[in-house]
Amino acid sequence: MALMVIAGASRGIGLELARQAAARGDEVLACARRPDAAPALAALCERSGGRVRAAALDVTDPDSCDRAARELGARQADLLVCNAGVFIGRGGLDDPALDARAWRETLITNVAGPFFVVRAFRARMRRPGGKIAVIGSRMGSSAAASGDAYAYRASKAAAANLALNLSRELAPEGLAVGVWHPGWVATEMGGPRAALTPERSARDLLARFDALTLARTGLFEDHEGRLIPF
Ligand SMILES: NC(=O)c1ccc[n+]([C@@H]2O[C@H](COP(=O)([O-])OP(=O)(O)OC[C@H]3O[C@@H](n4cnc5c(N)ncnc54)[C@H](OP(=O)(O)O)[C@@H]3O)[C@@H](O)[C@H]2O)c1
Repeated sequence: MALMVIAGASRGIGLELARQAAARGDEVLACARRPDAAPALAALCERSGGRVRAAALDVTDPDSCDRAARELGARQADLLVCNAGVFIGRGGLDDPALDARAWRETLITNVAGPFFVVRAFRARMRRPGGKIAVIGSRMGSSAAASGDAYAYRASKAAAANLALNLSRELAPEGLAVGVWHPGWVATEMGGPRAALTPERSARDLLARFDALTLARTGLFEDHEGRLIPF
């Protein structure tokens, strides 16, 4: 049995990761911006017989990340998943949604967010053997072909760089770090036409997290284990 922390567990992929982890016997601290406004998470906590516990955590607020980390007390987490993300403005250069506010919200959530979460939980990760998973996107890879969704693509490219940077600082502490593309997933973000169910994506991701070792720290791959260029 492992202890997992998920940032961004109110719905979508994060909620499904929590559900499947608990179903296989793991314990989960499921962090959400507003647990009181996350009925699906509340229902999961209720059903889980104590395996899933909700905590308030806004990834854009370092104090909130620190408070959530203190919920672990003296316990050490085996896996920390930085899943929270926003996707604002899907068009090209002329997309009016890509205003200064959209850029600020995207970069603070998708880039600074994982940084604040990892900084808050660092002291409470199992050493050696603890793992950190950043949920990135193929849209942030240098191999992506389209020219659009500027803020989101830039943020996910930066999140991949952040994960690589973390992998280098944390390897001497025995902590492994990876960044994953979860696939195109039918969530609020991915939309109903997406290729994968959250169930399938989360199942694949949990298997990839299990397979991460210190020898492979710093990897960027998709939910099926295919390497992605930074
Ligand atoms: N779906 C896809 O096709 C796809 C593809 C590639 C990558 N991804 C990545 O996968 C991750 C999960 O996406 P999803 O599809 O599950 O999206 P989603 O259904 O829109 O869920 C996003 C999650 O992030 C949380 N969140 C947003 N801002 C937050 C903040 N400041 N603090 C804490 N939590 C915050 C949301 O919480 P609230 O309920 O409070 O808003 C929600 O739990 C994201 O990083 C996304 O970029 C998704």
